[in-house]
Amino acid sequence: MSKTITCSAPVNIAVIKYWGKRDEELILPTNSSLSCTLSQDQLQTRTSVSFSPTYTKDRLWLNGKEEDVFKSARLRNCLSETRRLRSEYEASLEKKGNSSVAKLSQYFVHAASINNFPTAAGLASSASGYACFVFALCKLYELPISVSDMSRIARTGSGSACRSLFGGFVAWEMGQLKDGSDSQAVQIAPETHWPEIEAIILVVSDAKKATSSTSGMQTTVQTSELLQHRISEVVPRRMKEIIHAIEQKDFKAFAEITMKDSNQFHAVCLDTYPPICYLNDVSKKVIELLTAYNSGPDGIKAAYTFDAGPNAVIYAPKANIKELIQFISFYFPPPRSNPTAYFPDPLKIFQ
Ligand code: DP6
Repeated sequence: MSKTITCSAPVNIAVIKYWGKRDEELILPTNSSLSCTLSQDQLQTRTSVSFSPTYTKDRLWLNGKEEDVFKSARLRNCLSETRRLRSEYEASLEKKGNSSVAKLSQYFVHAASINNFPTAAGLASSASGYACFVFALCKLYELPISVSDMSRIARTGSGSACRSLFGGFVAWEMGQLKDGSDSQAVQIAPETHWPEIEAIILVVSDAKKATSSTSGMQTTVQTSELLQHRISEVVPRRMKEIIHAIEQKDFKAFAEITMKDSNQFHAVCLDTYPPICYLNDVSKKVIELLTAYNSGPDGIKAAYTFDAGPNAVIYAPKANIKELIQFISFYFPPPRSNPTAYFPDPLKIFQ
Protein backbone atom coordinates (compact mmCIF):
# COMPACT_ATOMS: atom_id res chain seq x y z
CA MET A 1 0.00 0.00 0.00
CA SER A 2 1.32 3.47 -0.84
CA LYS A 3 -0.18 6.92 -0.72
CA THR A 4 0.73 10.57 -1.49
CA ILE A 5 -0.77 13.76 -0.13
CA THR A 6 0.03 17.24 -1.49
CA CYS A 7 -0.86 20.41 0.42
CA SER A 8 0.02 24.06 0.34
CA ALA A 9 0.25 26.48 3.26
CA PRO A 10 0.42 30.26 3.33
CA VAL A 11 2.78 32.53 5.26
CA ASN A 12 1.62 34.62 8.19
CA ILE A 13 2.99 37.99 9.21
CA ALA A 14 2.75 38.90 12.88
CA VAL A 15 1.35 42.21 14.05
CA ILE A 16 2.14 41.34 17.68
CA LYS A 17 5.54 39.70 17.46
CA TYR A 18 6.70 36.45 19.02
CA TRP A 19 10.27 36.90 20.22
CA GLY A 20 11.66 34.73 23.00
CA LYS A 21 11.23 31.17 24.23
CA ARG A 22 10.62 29.87 27.74
CA ASP A 23 11.33 26.32 26.54
CA GLU A 24 13.74 25.88 23.62
CA GLU A 25 12.95 22.25 22.89
CA LEU A 26 9.16 22.39 22.97
CA ILE A 27 9.25 25.90 21.45
CA LEU A 28 7.14 27.60 24.09
CA PRO A 29 7.09 31.39 23.79
CA THR A 30 7.62 34.07 26.42
CA ASN A 31 4.60 35.97 25.05
CA SER A 32 1.46 35.44 23.02
CA SER A 33 1.43 36.79 19.46
CA LEU A 34 -1.04 37.58 16.69
CA SER A 35 -0.74 37.47 12.91
CA CYS A 36 -2.58 37.73 9.62
CA THR A 37 -2.35 34.81 7.23
CA LEU A 38 -1.63 36.08 3.71
CA SER A 39 -3.20 34.90 0.47
CA GLN A 40 -1.82 31.64 -0.61
CA ASP A 41 -0.96 31.64 -4.29
CA GLN A 42 1.71 34.35 -4.15
CA LEU A 43 3.53 33.28 -1.00
CA GLN A 44 3.25 29.66 -0.16
CA THR A 45 4.95 26.39 0.56
CA ARG A 46 3.82 23.30 -1.30
CA THR A 47 4.63 19.93 0.17
CA SER A 48 4.04 16.36 -0.93
CA VAL A 49 4.39 13.55 1.57
CA SER A 50 4.12 9.88 0.77
CA PHE A 51 4.70 6.46 2.22
CA SER A 52 5.38 3.20 0.48
CA PRO A 53 6.50 -0.28 1.57
CA THR A 54 9.47 0.17 -0.80
CA TYR A 55 10.92 3.13 1.12
CA THR A 56 13.89 2.18 3.29
CA LYS A 57 14.26 5.40 5.29
CA ASP A 58 12.61 8.79 5.92
CA ARG A 59 13.80 11.33 3.30
CA LEU A 60 13.19 15.02 2.68
CA TRP A 61 13.84 17.37 -0.25
CA LEU A 62 13.68 21.16 0.20
CA ASN A 63 13.43 23.17 -3.00
CA GLY A 64 14.79 20.17 -4.92
CA LYS A 65 17.78 19.49 -2.65
CA GLU A 66 17.84 16.52 -0.32
CA GLU A 67 18.28 17.42 3.37
CA ASP A 68 19.25 15.08 6.16
CA VAL A 69 16.01 14.59 8.13
CA PHE A 70 17.94 13.24 11.07
CA LYS A 71 20.09 16.37 11.37
CA SER A 72 17.12 18.55 12.26
CA ALA A 73 15.58 17.88 15.67
CA ARG A 74 12.63 20.05 14.68
CA LEU A 75 11.78 17.99 11.60
CA ARG A 76 12.23 14.80 13.60
CA ASN A 77 9.92 16.12 16.34
CA CYS A 78 7.12 16.81 13.86
CA LEU A 79 7.53 13.48 12.11
CA SER A 80 7.83 11.40 15.26
CA GLU A 81 4.89 13.11 16.96
CA THR A 82 2.53 12.56 14.00
CA ARG A 83 3.77 8.97 13.72
CA ARG A 84 3.23 8.41 17.46
CA LEU A 85 -0.33 9.77 17.19
CA ARG A 86 -0.96 7.45 14.23
CA SER A 87 0.20 4.40 16.12
CA GLU A 88 -1.93 5.46 19.12
CA TYR A 89 -4.90 5.81 16.75
CA GLU A 90 -4.24 2.38 15.23
CA ALA A 91 -4.15 0.86 18.72
CA SER A 92 -7.42 2.56 19.68
CA LEU A 93 -9.15 1.26 16.51
CA GLU A 94 -7.91 -2.27 17.19
CA LYS A 95 -9.17 -2.05 20.75
CA LYS A 96 -12.60 -1.20 19.36
CA GLY A 97 -12.50 -4.49 17.42
CA ASN A 98 -11.38 -3.17 14.03
CA SER A 99 -9.09 -5.96 12.85
CA SER A 100 -8.14 -4.52 9.44
CA VAL A 101 -6.46 -1.31 10.58
CA ALA A 102 -3.74 -0.17 8.13
CA LYS A 103 -0.44 0.03 10.02
CA LEU A 104 0.64 3.28 8.34
CA SER A 105 2.83 4.21 11.30
CA GLN A 106 5.25 1.45 10.30
CA TYR A 107 6.12 2.90 6.89
CA PHE A 108 8.91 5.34 6.10
CA VAL A 109 7.92 8.72 4.71
CA HIS A 110 9.28 10.79 1.81
CA ALA A 111 8.58 14.52 1.76
CA ALA A 112 9.31 17.15 -0.91
CA SER A 113 8.71 20.82 -0.25
CA ILE A 114 9.04 23.97 -2.37
CA ASN A 115 8.68 27.67 -1.54
CA ASN A 116 7.80 30.26 -4.15
CA PHE A 117 9.57 33.06 -2.26
CA PRO A 118 13.03 33.67 -0.71
CA THR A 119 13.86 31.31 2.15
CA ALA A 120 15.26 32.69 5.42
CA ALA A 121 15.01 36.31 4.27
CA GLY A 122 12.57 37.21 7.01
CA LEU A 123 9.54 36.30 4.91
CA ALA A 124 8.21 33.60 7.19
CA SER A 125 9.32 30.64 5.08
CA SER A 126 9.75 28.35 8.08
CA ALA A 127 6.22 29.22 9.21
CA SER A 128 4.54 28.05 6.01
CA GLY A 129 7.08 25.21 5.64
CA TYR A 130 6.40 23.51 8.97
CA ALA A 131 2.67 24.26 8.86
CA CYS A 132 2.49 22.56 5.47
CA PHE A 133 4.67 19.60 6.50
CA VAL A 134 2.61 18.89 9.63
CA PHE A 135 -0.76 19.37 7.94
CA ALA A 136 0.26 17.03 5.09
CA LEU A 137 1.52 14.38 7.55
CA CYS A 138 -1.71 14.56 9.59
CA LYS A 139 -3.69 14.01 6.37
CA LEU A 140 -1.38 11.20 5.24
CA TYR A 141 -1.87 9.45 8.57
CA GLU A 142 -5.63 10.28 8.59
CA LEU A 143 -5.36 11.58 12.13
CA PRO A 144 -8.70 12.55 13.69
CA ILE A 145 -7.32 15.69 15.37
CA SER A 146 -8.31 19.36 15.42
CA VAL A 147 -6.44 22.15 13.63
CA SER A 148 -5.36 23.57 17.02
CA ASP A 149 -3.91 20.12 17.84
CA MET A 150 -2.00 20.26 14.54
CA SER A 151 -0.83 23.77 15.41
CA ARG A 152 0.80 22.41 18.59
CA ILE A 153 2.80 19.93 16.51
CA ALA A 154 3.77 22.59 13.93
CA ARG A 155 4.89 24.79 16.83
CA THR A 156 7.61 22.27 17.67
CA GLY A 157 8.97 22.76 14.11
CA SER A 158 9.00 26.57 14.23
CA GLY A 159 7.04 28.71 16.67
CA SER A 160 5.41 31.00 14.14
CA ALA A 161 4.34 27.96 12.05
CA CYS A 162 1.50 27.22 14.46
CA ARG A 163 -0.28 30.36 13.26
CA SER A 164 -0.17 29.34 9.56
CA LEU A 165 -2.55 26.44 10.19
CA PHE A 166 -5.43 28.93 10.28
CA GLY A 167 -6.52 31.61 7.86
CA GLY A 168 -7.55 35.15 8.70
CA PHE A 169 -6.50 36.72 12.01
CA VAL A 170 -4.77 34.22 14.27
CA ALA A 171 -3.50 34.32 17.86
CA TRP A 172 -0.86 32.02 19.26
CA GLU A 173 -1.82 31.71 22.91
CA MET A 174 1.43 31.30 24.79
CA GLY A 175 -0.09 28.94 27.40
CA GLN A 176 1.17 28.36 30.92
CA LEU A 177 1.69 24.60 31.15
CA LYS A 178 5.18 23.15 31.16
CA ASP A 179 4.37 20.45 28.61
CA GLY A 180 3.07 23.02 26.09
CA SER A 181 -0.34 21.40 25.77
CA ASP A 182 -2.03 24.81 26.07
CA SER A 183 0.35 26.67 23.73
CA GLN A 184 -1.50 26.67 20.45
CA ALA A 185 -3.01 28.79 17.69
CA VAL A 186 -6.64 29.88 17.59
CA GLN A 187 -8.48 31.83 14.95
CA ILE A 188 -9.61 35.26 16.15
CA ALA A 189 -11.56 36.08 12.98
CA PRO A 190 -11.79 34.59 9.50
CA GLU A 191 -10.57 36.63 6.53
CA THR A 192 -14.20 37.24 5.53
CA HIS A 193 -14.66 39.27 8.73
CA TRP A 194 -12.46 42.10 7.40
CA PRO A 195 -11.84 41.59 3.67
CA GLU A 196 -11.03 45.30 3.13
CA ILE A 197 -7.56 44.82 4.62
CA GLU A 198 -4.79 43.99 2.17
CA ALA A 199 -1.05 43.69 2.43
CA ILE A 200 1.87 44.61 0.23
CA ILE A 201 5.42 43.43 0.76
CA LEU A 202 8.39 45.63 -0.04
CA VAL A 203 11.24 43.24 -0.69
CA VAL A 204 14.19 45.33 0.39
CA SER A 205 16.54 42.36 0.23
CA ASP A 206 16.14 38.65 -0.45
CA ALA A 207 19.51 37.79 1.12
CA LYS A 208 19.53 35.23 3.93
CA LYS A 209 19.42 37.03 7.28
CA ALA A 210 22.68 37.26 9.24
CA THR A 211 21.12 36.29 12.59
CA SER A 212 18.45 33.60 12.49
CA SER A 213 15.27 34.19 14.52
CA THR A 214 16.09 31.16 16.65
CA SER A 215 19.54 32.32 17.74
CA GLY A 216 18.56 36.00 17.84
CA MET A 217 15.71 35.45 20.29
CA GLN A 218 17.91 33.19 22.41
CA THR A 219 20.43 36.03 22.90
CA THR A 220 17.58 38.47 23.54
CA VAL A 221 16.15 36.28 26.33
CA GLN A 222 19.59 36.07 27.93
CA THR A 223 20.53 39.75 27.70
CA SER A 224 17.67 42.19 27.08
CA GLU A 225 16.15 44.01 30.05
CA LEU A 226 13.55 45.63 27.83
CA LEU A 227 12.20 42.17 26.91
CA GLN A 228 10.99 41.63 30.49
CA HIS A 229 8.90 44.79 30.33
CA ARG A 230 7.58 43.78 26.91
CA ILE A 231 6.46 40.30 27.95
CA SER A 232 5.00 41.17 31.34
CA GLU A 233 3.27 44.47 30.57
CA VAL A 234 3.15 45.51 26.94
CA VAL A 235 2.16 42.38 25.02
CA PRO A 236 -0.67 41.22 27.34
CA ARG A 237 -2.28 44.68 26.99
CA ARG A 238 -1.67 44.92 23.24
CA MET A 239 -3.12 41.45 22.61
CA LYS A 240 -6.42 42.54 24.18
CA GLU A 241 -6.38 45.88 22.35
CA ILE A 242 -5.62 44.47 18.92
CA ILE A 243 -8.22 41.69 19.24
CA HIS A 244 -10.75 44.40 20.11
CA ALA A 245 -9.59 46.49 17.10
CA ILE A 246 -10.00 43.48 14.80
CA GLU A 247 -13.45 42.68 16.19
CA GLN A 248 -14.50 46.33 15.73
CA LYS A 249 -12.71 46.61 12.34
CA ASP A 250 -11.00 49.69 13.74
CA PHE A 251 -8.13 50.12 11.28
CA LYS A 252 -6.52 53.13 12.98
CA ALA A 253 -6.22 51.26 16.30
CA PHE A 254 -5.07 48.07 14.52
CA ALA A 255 -2.44 49.99 12.56
CA GLU A 256 -1.10 51.98 15.51
CA ILE A 257 -0.63 48.83 17.63
CA THR A 258 0.95 47.02 14.67
CA MET A 259 3.54 49.75 14.06
CA LYS A 260 4.28 50.20 17.76
CA ASP A 261 4.78 46.49 18.21
CA SER A 262 7.13 46.25 15.24
CA ASN A 263 9.08 49.21 16.64
CA GLN A 264 9.30 47.62 20.08
CA PHE A 265 10.37 44.27 18.68
CA HIS A 266 13.26 45.96 16.85
CA ALA A 267 14.06 48.03 19.96
CA VAL A 268 14.31 44.77 21.91
CA CYS A 269 16.67 43.43 19.22
CA LEU A 270 18.84 46.52 19.63
CA ASP A 271 18.68 46.10 23.42
CA THR A 272 20.11 42.60 22.97
CA TYR A 273 23.83 42.27 23.61
CA PRO A 274 25.59 42.02 21.22
CA PRO A 275 22.89 44.06 19.45
CA ILE A 276 20.86 42.70 16.55
CA CYS A 277 19.88 45.03 13.71
CA TYR A 278 17.44 43.59 11.23
CA LEU A 279 16.41 46.92 9.69
CA ASN A 280 18.65 48.58 7.12
CA ASP A 281 18.68 52.13 5.76
CA VAL A 282 15.95 51.37 3.22
CA SER A 283 13.73 49.89 5.96
CA LYS A 284 14.23 53.02 8.05
CA LYS A 285 13.36 55.17 5.04
CA VAL A 286 10.14 53.14 4.64
CA ILE A 287 9.25 53.84 8.29
CA GLU A 288 9.92 57.54 7.73
CA LEU A 289 7.77 57.60 4.57
CA LEU A 290 4.88 55.77 6.17
CA THR A 291 5.03 58.08 9.18
CA ALA A 292 4.79 61.07 6.82
CA TYR A 293 1.99 59.36 4.86
CA ASN A 294 0.04 58.79 8.09
CA SER A 295 0.45 62.32 9.38
CA GLY A 296 -1.94 63.90 6.87
CA PRO A 297 -5.46 65.13 7.70
CA ASP A 298 -6.96 61.63 7.39
CA GLY A 299 -4.69 60.20 10.08
CA ILE A 300 -3.38 56.65 9.92
CA LYS A 301 -3.94 55.05 6.50
CA ALA A 302 -1.37 52.22 6.46
CA ALA A 303 0.68 50.17 8.92
CA TYR A 304 4.20 48.86 8.46
CA THR A 305 5.65 45.88 10.22
CA PHE A 306 9.08 44.24 9.92
CA ASP A 307 10.01 40.71 10.96
CA ALA A 308 13.57 39.48 11.48
CA GLY A 309 14.78 41.09 8.26
CA PRO A 310 14.73 44.40 6.36
CA ASN A 311 11.60 43.68 4.26
CA ALA A 312 8.50 45.70 5.01
CA VAL A 313 5.00 44.31 5.12
CA ILE A 314 2.39 47.04 4.85
CA TYR A 315 -1.22 46.50 5.85
CA ALA A 316 -3.78 48.96 4.53
CA PRO A 317 -7.45 49.12 3.58
CA LYS A 318 -7.94 48.23 -0.09
CA ALA A 319 -9.15 51.79 -0.78
CA ASN A 320 -5.72 53.20 0.14
CA ILE A 321 -3.50 50.70 -1.66
CA LYS A 322 -3.28 52.45 -5.05
CA GLU A 323 -2.40 55.80 -3.51
CA LEU A 324 0.08 54.11 -1.16
CA ILE A 325 1.86 52.37 -4.02
CA GLN A 326 2.07 55.67 -5.94
CA PHE A 327 3.47 57.35 -2.83
CA ILE A 328 6.12 54.67 -2.26
CA SER A 329 7.02 54.45 -5.97
CA PHE A 330 7.65 58.18 -6.02
CA TYR A 331 10.45 57.76 -3.47
CA PHE A 332 11.60 54.32 -4.64
CA PRO A 333 10.97 54.40 -8.41
CA PRO A 334 10.92 50.97 -10.06
CA PRO A 335 13.40 50.36 -12.90
CA ARG A 336 12.26 51.90 -16.21
CA SER A 337 12.76 48.60 -17.99
CA ASN A 338 10.17 46.95 -15.75
CA PRO A 339 7.87 49.61 -14.30
CA THR A 340 5.55 47.18 -12.51
CA ALA A 341 8.38 45.05 -11.10
CA TYR A 342 7.90 46.17 -7.52
CA PHE A 343 4.22 45.74 -7.06
CA PRO A 344 2.41 42.65 -8.19
CA ASP A 345 -1.14 42.30 -6.88
CA PRO A 346 -1.63 43.22 -3.24
CA LEU A 347 -2.01 40.25 -0.94
CA LYS A 348 -5.33 39.45 0.64
CA ILE A 349 -5.77 38.05 4.10
CA PHE A 350 -6.10 34.34 3.44
CA GLN A 351 -8.81 32.07 4.79
C1 DP6 B 1 10.15 37.98 14.09
O1 DP6 B 1 9.06 31.22 14.35
O2 DP6 B 1 11.04 31.76 12.89
O3 DP6 B 1 8.93 36.52 12.66
O4 DP6 B 1 10.41 29.37 16.69
O5 DP6 B 1 12.87 29.68 16.51
O6 DP6 B 1 11.57 28.86 14.54
P1 DP6 B 1 11.55 29.71 15.79
O7 DP6 B 1 11.38 31.21 15.31
P2 DP6 B 1 10.40 31.82 14.24
O8 DP6 B 1 10.37 33.34 14.74
C2 DP6 B 1 9.55 34.30 14.14
C3 DP6 B 1 9.85 35.63 14.70
C4 DP6 B 1 9.20 36.80 14.02
C5 DP6 B 1 7.93 37.22 14.75
C6 DP6 B 1 6.69 36.38 14.54
O9 DP6 B 1 6.51 35.77 13.46
O10 DP6 B 1 5.85 36.40 15.46
